[in-house]
Amino acid sequence: MKVLTGFSKLNITERIDLLKKNVNLNEQQISLLTAFRENDKDPDGVIENLTENYISNYSLPFSIAPNFRVNDKWYFVPMVTEESSVVAAAASAAKFWSGQGGFKSEISGTKKSGQIYFSWNGNIEKLQSMLPLLKEKLASSVKSLTVNMEKRGGGITDITFNPDHHGNNDYHIVNVDFDTVDSMGANLINSCLETMGSELVSFINSNFTGTDREAEIIMAILSNFTPDCLVECSAECSINRLSEISGNLTPEQFARKFAKAVQIAREYIPRAVTHNKGIFNGVDAVLLATGNDFRAVEACGHAYAAKDGNYTALTDIEISGNRFRYRLSIPLSIGTVGGATSVHPMARLALQIMNNPTSGELMKVVASVGLASNFAAIRSLITDGIQKGHMRLHLNNFLSHFNVNESEKILVEEHFRNKQYSFSAISDFLTSIRGNL
Ligand code: MEV
Repeated sequence: MKVLTGFSKLNITERIDLLKKNVNLNEQQISLLTAFRENDKDPDGVIENLTENYISNYSLPFSIAPNFRVNDKWYFVPMVTEESSVVAAAASAAKFWSGQGGFKSEISGTKKSGQIYFSWNGNIEKLQSMLPLLKEKLASSVKSLTVNMEKRGGGITDITFNPDHHGNNDYHIVNVDFDTVDSMGANLINSCLETMGSELVSFINSNFTGTDREAEIIMAILSNFTPDCLVECSAECSINRLSEISGNLTPEQFARKFAKAVQIAREYIPRAVTHNKGIFNGVDAVLLATGNDFRAVEACGHAYAAKDGNYTALTDIEISGNRFRYRLSIPLSIGTVGGATSVHPMARLALQIMNNPTSGELMKVVASVGLASNFAAIRSLITDGIQKGHMRLHLNNFLSHFNVNESEKILVEEHFRNKQYSFSAISDFLTSIRGNL
């Protein structure tokens, strides 16, 4: 196959025609593209314009987890995920914790940073002595960009040079802190940094002489490490209340086993990663529903989990006397205005369902969903095991794959009630009963 050029310039029909010529797809498969495009019709063409080379839509279930009580406010939380057990797990934990006073969530702030990296071999002492003037020049070069952010109560909060002694003789760093308030602010931060980069080069050029005038911008980009957007979320109850969910265990056994599971995740990386993945099951589903950048949040969450040098669990537990307290610390750099959040009709609806929260409020809700998801996962792991609930929900995927009707569904459920099942076991069973129907 030779390299294609101009794919993005084609219209949708032309793109699909070209695909057909190059990839082995039958008419039925091609019509799926039309069906999903027509099905998720978006009259304003917003979705089509979110990326390039669009040919269809990819649907995922949009679900609601009710009963999220966060700081005494109740939410129906929209979640978008392909994993069948995620919403049920979050909803069951939310219901349990709502009866214990709900989740308590606090944020440290919404400060983010970005950096300008530049090569320069000039006189550092002289540049350092001019820092107040340089900062002023850099900030005023982006005044027209930051004016709206300032109106919303944010703006550039600090500019520092070679923070924490990073940077060396052949490259340096200008760190810029931003408070973007209700927007995640990635585009705005990047625009500011690029403009400031040009200003920095002109500043050096006009204040130094000889080879000291030669500075080169390597790159200017926001950082997805946002430890100052930390959310601390907790849920607490007396141990005897755990009897509602402790299955065959006594509440005391449940609390002890739960604490041991958390200790393992705090001490052993192979478990810590999966433990944190269970948190992100819930976090990402709300971020997707609200049009937020879940990759940025995941990258930061895992870096934060390793901030002390050892990757560990993002949750921790305290059991003292009769009290069981479970908490999550997670950085969440997210927004409720700007980007897909403001333009995707389903993201806007998701925010509406939560009564249009500020980004701080959304951060608190998202952390609660992360904690609930992880709580539900550990509960299953230490009681029935994860497969029971997982496979029950997975069964629906299998059944719809095989176009199972109501009477076949009853037979399948009866047959597999106390058996382990798999895709091929169900396929074999259906073949056997379909022959007999
Ligand atoms: C599955 O998506 C998530 C879990 O593996 C999380 C965990 O093990 O804590 C169940």
